Amino acid sequence: MTIALAALIGYFLGSIPFGLVLTRLTGGPDIRNIGSGNIGATNVLRTGNKGIAALTLLLDAGKAAGAGYLALHLFGAPMQFIAAAAALFGHCYPVWLRFKGGKGVATFFGALLGLVWPVGLVAATTWLLVAYTTKYSSAAALCAAAFSTAVSVMFFPWPVTTMIGFMTVLIVWRHRENIARLKAGTESKIGQEG
Ligand code: G3P
Repeated sequence: MTIALAALIGYFLGSIPFGLVLTRLTGGPDIRNIGSGNIGATNVLRTGNKGIAALTLLLDAGKAAGAGYLALHLFGAPMQFIAAAAALFGHCYPVWLRFKGGKGVATFFGALLGLVWPVGLVAATTWLLVAYTTKYSSAAALCAAAFSTAVSVMFFPWPVTTMIGFMTVLIVWRHRENIARLKAGTESKIGQEG
């Protein structure tokens, strides 16, 4: 029962599509119709509104950490990991958007930095290094997820590893079109029109 409640809290918090809501509230386009069509910060940045992109990043990250803290407070450990994993699932498959959500990267960072900060730092550093050298947000996210999984397997207990492993599988799945574009050399770079 507690697992189901933690998962529900996580799912509903995670399913709030901040990128879409903030862009529309500030008079921008429906980001599902521009760039990659994704509802995340990378695609919000393609509208040219850096402030809203940053806010999307912050809120998409915050909802996973918030769900984790709420579940920890209400149900105790290790329910924070269930709620955070469910938040990522909610971000990727929100009921409000007919289950067509985002790719989960900011939410993944929020979960890690909020709940397992050393792995969060590893993920953020990996993302920055790969993004700086390649300018591909998707490649940076995939490397950060893969490296975080490896680090958690080596140094962290199973609840952490299970959460990160689940999130990584979901992130790779949600990036399958990006992976195809990276292979074909047609992936757009950070800030470029998709
Ligand atoms: O954060 C999502 C990123 O990895 C890819 O986004 O819009 O380029 O598909 P996008």
